[in-house]
Amino acid sequence: MQQWLAEAPANIALIKYMGKKNKDKKIPANPSLSYTLNHLRSYVSLEFSSDKHDTWELLELPGLDNNFSLSASEQQRFLGHLAFLKEQFSYRGGLVVRSVNNFPHSTGLASSASSFAALTKCALLALSELTDTPELSIEDQAKLSRHGSGSSCRSFFSPWALWDGEKVSAIDIPYDNLIHEVIIISHAPKVVSSSKAHELVETSPLYLSRIENATHNLHALLEAFRANKWADAYSICWREFQEMHALFSTSQQPFGYMTPDTHQILDRLHEEWKQTGDGPIVTMDAGPNIHLLYRSDQAEQARLFKQDVLIGNFDVL
Ligand code: DP6
Repeated sequence: MQQWLAEAPANIALIKYMGKKNKDKKIPANPSLSYTLNHLRSYVSLEFSSDKHDTWELLELPGLDNNFSLSASEQQRFLGHLAFLKEQFSYRGGLVVRSVNNFPHSTGLASSASSFAALTKCALLALSELTDTPELSIEDQAKLSRHGSGSSCRSFFSPWALWDGEKVSAIDIPYDNLIHEVIIISHAPKVVSSSKAHELVETSPLYLSRIENATHNLHALLEAFRANKWADAYSICWREFQEMHALFSTSQQPFGYMTPDTHQILDRLHEEWKQTGDGPIVTMDAGPNIHLLYRSDQAEQARLFKQDVLIGNFDVL
């Protein structure tokens, strides 16, 4: 039986996509910038189905989480994107789609970027072969992936991706090989999904100035990186995720993800920065977990922080 397989990495945004100009096409309200997390990956396979309907199953790969599953609504969203891709090629046959991540499902880590990017890659590979159509460019693949989940379009570029409107591309930034860690503050599923958060933030009075602020933060961050001003980059990224979380807490139905543990670790990281004048870039998505990015020359600092503060208290991925 013919089978197609593809994989894609997750990414972490330092300038956040939050709010949409166009919901159906997932055109973001503001530009975003992300670092690709090549160690956190999703895998997708496709195979012909004996009936006309598409179905989802677990992809069993050696060494990967056999307990991985998608809820009924997650499956529906995944299969909806497959249907959208099939439509682009006027392909009507049924397919079995299987997927899995190499990071535990229970970590509360969003996997939509990596899984929708892997699904798009796999489906486009299969569909171009099945319909005898030339393969699409990476840029065009990323554009189609955006329709499934916006942030997935950035997972097609590494190590850095810049997404603005309909355009997404790699961007040269003089920092690569960063050390990424995510502190799992809570394993619980999110109460408000990021897709829902995109809608709710539009009711915040702060949303009016969000596009301007995010654009300003983006330019300031690119300038800081290019001038090798790591401490400035840290301050801008800190302000940026705090601004996004402020949108959540000031929307008409306020919501939030930060727990007392989140605040405790954020305070500790800030304190370390104040004392030593150096440290990791810190950021948070729409969830309680804290992402750290260290330069490769900070490996020892990363090891010590993990050993002294995190091990025994939190899972770190
Ligand atoms: C907070 O890409 O998950 O992680 O387009 O509705 O699927 P949809 O949303 P999604 O939003 C991600 C939001 C974020 C910030 C970011 O990754 O830029």
